[in-house]
Amino acid sequence: MKAAAVEIRGVHHGFGDKPVLDDVNLRIGRGQFLALVGPSGCGKSTLLRAIVGTHLPRRGEIRLFPPGADAAGLLVTGPGRDRGIVYQQYALFPFLTALENVAIGLMLDETSIPFRFFRFLRWRALRRRHLEMAVEMLARVKLADALHLYPHEMSGGMRQRVALAQALIMKPEILLMDEPFGALDEATREELQQHLISLRSENLLALDESRTPPHTLIIVTHELNEAIYVGDRVVGLSQHWDWRSEGHQSFPGATVTYDKATPHSSAKTDRNFGAFAMARDEIRRVVFEPQAPPGRNEHVTYWKTRASPETTDEPT
Ligand SMILES: Nc1ncnc2c1ncn2[C@@H]1O[C@H](COP(=O)(O)OP(=O)(O)OP(=O)(O)O)[C@@H](O)[C@H]1O
Ligand SMILES: [Mg+2]
Repeated sequence: MKAAAVEIRGVHHGFGDKPVLDDVNLRIGRGQFLALVGPSGCGKSTLLRAIVGTHLPRRGEIRLFPPGADAAGLLVTGPGRDRGIVYQQYALFPFLTALENVAIGLMLDETSIPFRFFRFLRWRALRRRHLEMAVEMLARVKLADALHLYPHEMSGGMRQRVALAQALIMKPEILLMDEPFGALDEATREELQQHLISLRSENLLALDESRTPPHTLIIVTHELNEAIYVGDRVVGLSQHWDWRSEGHQSFPGATVTYDKATPHSSAKTDRNFGAFAMARDEIRRVVFEPQAPPGRNEHVTYWKTRASPETTDEPT
């Protein structure tokens, strides 16, 4: 049985008087690739920021379960190295090369300014190690030839690959991506999706070898094809759920109205496009249409459908 990596429990959020999220509950297994979709403004980025820890929820909590944590897990109270994020707009330092941009996270995390002065030789060795690791990571995202380019000398796709390398080098427990490929042309987008699929293959290999899958991903995307292709689970947040059916007078915010495994989640390579189209239509109807879905949990069945012994990866 795979363990949970994150639990989002009864999360409510809003800005001023404006409610954004209401009663969001999600349990995300280690090694899962979860695609988060929903209409613009429903609170996808807000939920991601709550997990990152920069905007804590008003009510409810988010707990992380790193290997070795006890059953209660760790409450998210702020950002941490265990969570890496890639945004749509490249958050690279303009005055650093690709190599330096990727190495800087490790350098800042593992060395302090006094350390640089008082243990200069040790610092220099560590810095060399960080740069070597950054070279390896950039090769993995196919940027071995671009180590010394500055962001303004790179294409959008290259910058986004640097941003991905920047996040991956920190070996985060959870990788969060907020519309990471939204600004890219289709070919570049597909290439980067392939890169995510290769991370998923690393997970499958780890599971085959009874190791902990190294990557847990939550990716926000407005592209349903991308969500279904990259994710092994799609969660839909919708602001259209009609809370009056649960006795509320006012509208308290968006909640989860869809949560299902993607059609290919159990197959390793097969892509059945007929099943893709069906999933896409269902998500459109249940998450994006202004009419409320028939029941809040009718399409929130991810864990229920995985309860049978041969498919279960339900956290204990
Ligand atoms: N810092 C803020 N101050 C006030 N309101 C905010 C703030 N951030 C977000 N909001 C509001 O919260 C709601 C949800 O925003 P959020 O960015 O999470 O939506 P989203 O689902 O990511 O949308 P999109 O798909 O357009 O990126 C929006 O109505 C937005 O106007
Ligand atoms: Mg957003």
